[in-house]
Amino acid sequence: MTVELHELEITAVTRETADCASFELWVPPELREAYRYRAGQHLTFELPWEGHEVTRCYSLSSCPDLDEPLKIAVKRVEGGRVSNWMNDNLAVGDKIRASVPEGRFVLDPETRHGAPLFLFAGGSGITPIISLLKSALATTKRTITLVYANQRPDSVIYADEVDRLVGEHSERLVVHHHYDSASGYLSRDELRSHLHDTDIGEFYICGPAAFIELVEDALDEAGVHEELVYVERFVSPADPDQVERGLVDVQSFESPPKFSLWLDGRSRSVPYVRGKTLLECAQAASLNPGHSCESGYCGSCMAHVRTGRVYMRTHEALSERDIARGVALLCQSIPASSEPLELDADSTSFRTASAVKSSYGRRVSQLAAAAVFAFMVAGTLVLRLVH
Ligand SMILES: Cc1cc2nc3c(=O)[nH]c(=O)nc-3n(C[C@H](O)[C@H](O)[C@H](O)COP(=O)(O)OP(=O)(O)OC[C@H]3O[C@@H](n4cnc5c(N)ncnc54)[C@H](O)[C@@H]3O)c2cc1C
Ligand code: FES
Repeated sequence: MTVELHELEITAVTRETADCASFELWVPPELREAYRYRAGQHLTFELPWEGHEVTRCYSLSSCPDLDEPLKIAVKRVEGGRVSNWMNDNLAVGDKIRASVPEGRFVLDPETRHGAPLFLFAGGSGITPIISLLKSALATTKRTITLVYANQRPDSVIYADEVDRLVGEHSERLVVHHHYDSASGYLSRDELRSHLHDTDIGEFYICGPAAFIELVEDALDEAGVHEELVYVERFVSPADPDQVERGLVDVQSFESPPKFSLWLDGRSRSVPYVRGKTLLECAQAASLNPGHSCESGYCGSCMAHVRTGRVYMRTHEALSERDIARGVALLCQSIPASSEPLELDADSTSFRTASAVKSSYGRRVSQLAAAAVFAFMVAGTLVLRLVH
């Protein structure tokens, strides 16, 4: 991992549920600027584990727009090493190595006063979602729907905080709790019943893989454009001693001499150096597409393959659906043929603010054009009636 790491001190530990604890982190004054973050971002923690370093991401559940200390919540994963270790061992006064905030699961400031916001959280998926929720309440006038699925009422992380927010913002915040213990797993029908404004809303999903898939399916069925759907997947990276490289002889692949990368609204031509990843080549060309873990699990470096083919060494951060629609991780991709290769790192599937802005702007223009057209048709009819 090449991201910047610093030691942060644990200043509070709260048991949120039987299998989840939250940790507040103290950032020394000289690092405050580096740890400024956007709601929905995460920190990557590095811990020594049986002779090597392991890394795990945890989303910030605190809100940067309120006077809140940095906070994460870690839910035990059965058989999981770091999540159980943190729950069992981390105490006030301990120091832990953490990256600066990263991630693209964030609100687009350009749509802050517009689109209704739909948030879907399954279990510990509430961590970035509650940060987005608090930020949208603090900085926008958007209406917000939160669908929050849990096994049982006593496994709801941040239950009191969610209740308090509903009490304070009942005019524009609606929360639908779902408990598996009461009615089985969440269904598409139930999800559909909570949807409206599917043409202009923005949809954020975080939770277990099956939960994400269900919500994505329901949104697909409701006709929500994929550009308006934002997903955060909670996965662990492979351990450094288990990363399997070289199973495929990448040196034997044909590759184009250069590739095109859409970034910040412009197409850039990037020389390709055989054996290097597309991210490495972009960096060598002084470009800086979003990235964080460089190991295929955070999803910060996603780009759409427009033409050509790539081979990904690993792709934990992507679902089969992502791969089927041409999403690739720049940090794991190398060209897999000599065909011209074009990628789009601005694509809204990866939610860069500028891209979402243009997509939202496009929709607003389409709606405005439709309204003008309807007005003209109505005007013509009125004129005909008058004459
Ligand atoms: C961007 C991002 C944000 C995240 N935010 C949060 C958050 O806010 N809160 C949160 O709780 N989690 C979050 N996660 C998930 C978190 O990073 C970890 O993946 C999670 O805590 C599990 O880590 P672990 O070390 O406990 O489990 P691991 O040790 O990684 O194990 C995970 C699973 O794999 C199994 N396993 C482990 N080793 C093996 C093996 N050798 N063979 C077979 N199976 C094995 C385990 O039994 C377990 O079921 C986030 C992840 C990402 C990518
Ligand atoms: S930088 Fe994390 S997946 Fe590529």
